[in-house]
This record gives sequence, structure tokens and C-alpha cells, in this order.
Amino acid sequence: MEDIAKKAFARLFGHAPENVYSAPGRVNLIGEHTDYNDGFVLPTAIDFRTWVAACKRDDRIITAVALDEEDENGIPTVATFAIDDDLKKMDPPWSDYLLGVVNELKKEGYKLSGANLVIKSNVPRGAGLSSSAALENALVLALTDVSGEHLSGVKAALIGQAAENNFVGCNCGVMDQMVSALGKQDYALLLDCRSLEYKLVPMPESWSILIVNSNVKRGLVDSEYNVRRQQCEAAAKFFNVDALRDVSLAQLEKNKEALDPVVYRRALHIVTENQRTLNACTALEQGDLATLSRLMEDSHKSMKNDFEITVPAIDGLVKIIKDVIGTEGGVRMTGGGFGGCVVALIPKELEAEAIRRVEEEYPKISDGLAPSIFVCRASDGAFLRGK
Ligand code: GLA
Repeated sequence: MEDIAKKAFARLFGHAPENVYSAPGRVNLIGEHTDYNDGFVLPTAIDFRTWVAACKRDDRIITAVALDEEDENGIPTVATFAIDDDLKKMDPPWSDYLLGVVNELKKEGYKLSGANLVIKSNVPRGAGLSSSAALENALVLALTDVSGEHLSGVKAALIGQAAENNFVGCNCGVMDQMVSALGKQDYALLLDCRSLEYKLVPMPESWSILIVNSNVKRGLVDSEYNVRRQQCEAAAKFFNVDALRDVSLAQLEKNKEALDPVVYRRALHIVTENQRTLNACTALEQGDLATLSRLMEDSHKSMKNDFEITVPAIDGLVKIIKDVIGTEGGVRMTGGGFGGCVVALIPKELEAEAIRRVEEEYPKISDGLAPSIFVCRASDGAFLRGK
């Protein structure tokens, strides 16, 4: 893939790029919708990446070509703009991410320089595996390196998140960008989304990370995501705290009757999910797959019954895998919800059977949808070099 970006760059611009930068997608093992509640998440970066081949220009123009985003004639689409212009949304739509990160970098005082960029990715798009965070981090890294202005992985992640919030129009938390920036090969990352402190936790070699995309169209994601966020904020307001991170289970239960029942259930998911995430981190450190199995099962139930972000095809997919792995592995929906992917942590020897059963049984419960199956390895984040 890196080679494809390099060769295309040479073909398009007549010379080799100075450098190629890359950032991975992610899968979240546990800790769903906790990031924007100042809570805990436990994702890993995965071995699907976005590459940006780059070269500095002498003027203040950025020209970017997205090899995977073709027009109706099969030609890769191009975005060109002047850094110092007042940046507004334009075509092609993917340029939102580029314009968004340039805008945020400018706000933070980065001078930037003109650049030619070629973008190539193998992160599945629209699957909930954070192709957008991968793109944002790869772009932030490329743009700041080209102009000789280095920043930390945490800063890059905050810029990517701000680009989503302020320019793209998605009110996401910081998990995706953080793990895409700071993940490490064969490690999961426990992130405290309030302090942004994080800890790398080794993934046992004998386990597989199995990801299955339900291929259910994720129609309601944006609107429902924002509704969940508002409900969580309403609960935090009720308790007069900054975020649900500050509410204990005992406090929540004591006030159950006074709370709106839907808001109570949303809060219950967040409060219990935070604790499950911390417990899952300990279980991972101890190589305790039986405990992880239970925690992932409880997490899925909580997303289904209390947070109400699963759909029948996803619940069915989780059940198919659960029937194979029992308590020898964990499985749950991962990501924002309303479709997307299921993640399973399973002993390597059960991998083939789990895949076989998913291929055979999933189409029967999903009106014939075919699953996309990925066996992933936890991978290096974009900023591992410490820039
Ligand atoms: C999306 C968002 C993240 C996070 C997850 C749910 O991936 O981008 O910030 O909120 O949903 O855990």
C-alpha cells in the first residue's frame, strides 16, 4: 500500500515524495460511549492503515489526491486550496477531513507549508473501524513534518477530534484519534479520557482479535450518537457534575426514581461500562480470558438493553460467535453502534471454527447479508516514533 502511494505520487507530481506517513484504524475491546463521558476505554490500533505520501511545495497551496475516492470516470479526486484562505466545506466530500485538520492546526498557531499529498488507505470505510481518525492522524503527521513543526501524539489526536467536532460535524470523543496516534504493536491501550493518561497493556500471543463487519447500513449513527450524548449530559447535569465519570453506581441507584427512566438507563450503561473497562484491563494484564469473556458479554447486554445502540443482526452475530467460544473467549459489538462491527477475543485454536460458523449462519439471520471477517493484530500508532 505504501508503495502504491509512492508510485502514484511519482506519476502525478513527476518526482518521488519526500516521505510517507501513516496511521492505523482501531477496534475498541471495551468501553463504549465512555470517552465523551470522561471515562475509560480499552482499544487497540489495528493493522489497517492510511498512508499519506508527501512533499513540500514552495507556495502556500495544499494539493491532495485520494486514490481510493474516485469520480464517476474512475479518476482519483483532488482537493486544492490555499492554506491562508478562510476554509469552507468544498468538493470532494473527503476534503472535510483535510480542511478540518488544517483549520485546527492554524487555530493552534502552526504555520504549515504548502504540500503535495497522495492518500491511500486499506482501513474499511463505514465499518466503524475509524478510517477517519486514521486519515486525520496521517494528515496531521504529514503536514506538521513537512513544515518542520513537530507535535506530540496527544496533541495530534486532539486536533483530529477538534476537526471532527468543528468542521466535519461529528460530535465524537477522543478515543479513536488517541489510539490511532499512540497504539503499539501487540498492545491494547487503556485510556483515561479525562486526563488523557494512558497505559499500554500487552495482548497475549495465543489470542486472536477477530473483527466481523455486519455490513448493516449504519443509518442512524450520527443523529442517535448525538442523542446519546445529550442524554448522558442530562444525567451529569442532574447530578451537578462535569461528566458521568463522576457518578458512582450507588449514587445512580439512590436517584433512580427521580431520574427520567431513559436517562437513568443511559447513565447506568456508562457507569457500569467504566468499571467493566477497568476490570477488563486487569483481566487482560493477567491473561484471564474467562473474566474478559464475562465482561464483554455484560458490555454487550448493557449496550443492547440500557444504551440501546445494537441492532438485531449485530445481536445475532454476537450470539453465533458466543455459541462457539462460550466462556473461552469474549465477544461484543464494538464502536458507535447501529450496525458496524463485532469484536471477539478468542484463543487461536477456536478462530477457524468461529469464522466458519459466522460465514454459514450470519447470512441466514441478516436477510442474506455477507459478513466481512478480519483477523487483526494490534499495531503501531502513527506517533510511535515519539514526534
Ligand atoms: C465513535 C466515536 C468515539 C466513541 C465511539 C463509541 O467511534 O468516534 O469517540 O464515542 O463511537 O465508543
